[in-house]
Amino acid sequence: MEDYSPIDLRTHQPHSARMYDYLLGGKDHYTVDGEAAEKALASFPMLRTAARENRKFLGRAVRYLVQEAGIRQFIDLGSGLPTAENVHQVAQSVDPDARVVYVDNDPIVLVHGSALLARDARTTVIQGDIREPRAILDHPRTRALIDFALPVGVLAVAVLHFVGDDEDPAGIVRTLAGGVPAGSHFILSHATADIAPEAAMGVQRAYRSQGVPLTLRSRERFTEFFDGLEIVEPGVQVVSDWRATEPEEQRPDHADVSWYGGIGRLAGSAREGAPGSA
Ligand SMILES: C[S@@+](CC[C@H](N)C(=O)[O-])C[C@H]1O[C@@H](n2cnc3c(N)ncnc32)[C@H](O)[C@@H]1O
Repeated sequence: MEDYSPIDLRTHQPHSARMYDYLLGGKDHYTVDGEAAEKALASFPMLRTAARENRKFLGRAVRYLVQEAGIRQFIDLGSGLPTAENVHQVAQSVDPDARVVYVDNDPIVLVHGSALLARDARTTVIQGDIREPRAILDHPRTRALIDFALPVGVLAVAVLHFVGDDEDPAGIVRTLAGGVPAGSHFILSHATADIAPEAAMGVQRAYRSQGVPLTLRSRERFTEFFDGLEIVEPGVQVVSDWRATEPEEQRPDHADVSWYGGIGRLAGSAREGAPGSA
């Protein structure tokens, strides 16, 4: 039985999912989201390029996990609105049986995602908050789709910068790592002010002034999120460089991307604490 209770989409207030959709040229946003994104673009005109490069990184990283690390199941945290090359499309282009749990705290993602995925039994969308990682791992639909005896690909792509320092983003990754078996991989990306400080801090100010909490972090702070994981080659890089398929001269300047990404692998024997473990 479906739940038809009304959902408050909070359309009067900008939201990061819909602002990102605006930046990527999608159609699933409201006027407030476009206006808020334009304020960020005024400070950082290449923000659309940055968002696209982050998305391309996500695609390359998922393909790497399926093709080279043998991962067949994914939990995509802060998945955003459906766009081109979603995780299940990338993964299932290599193995049609790949399974994906999409998680986002914006209810509009649930609405659009559920419609898109309605006929695909290997994917599901749940409303969840990355700041409550245990609840996501224990969610009945996560448990139904993910086999916690096998390695999982966990994505926190362009979402940890919406988690404040006081909310312990590194601790969130640690909790997630404690709930999945050895051989699991973490795909992380994060915006930074390291490369173009003035413009990037302007974006942070623009987001915060619209009520969207954005915390840019340095390469060093971002790299701390991989503590306890083996960082996969070529390490933490500006997303456009990470296992890039285009020659260097065709890639954007680092200053126009200002976004780090990398993959961490959970080594060792299977961790205790995975859902379903005694
Ligand atoms: C910039 S988009 C990134 C989308 C996708 N991961 C990507 O990189 O293309 C950030 C997403 O994180 C979601 N988000 C923000 N804070 C969140 C939280 N606390 N828990 C779950 N999702 C969150 C937003 O709703 C949005 O969909």
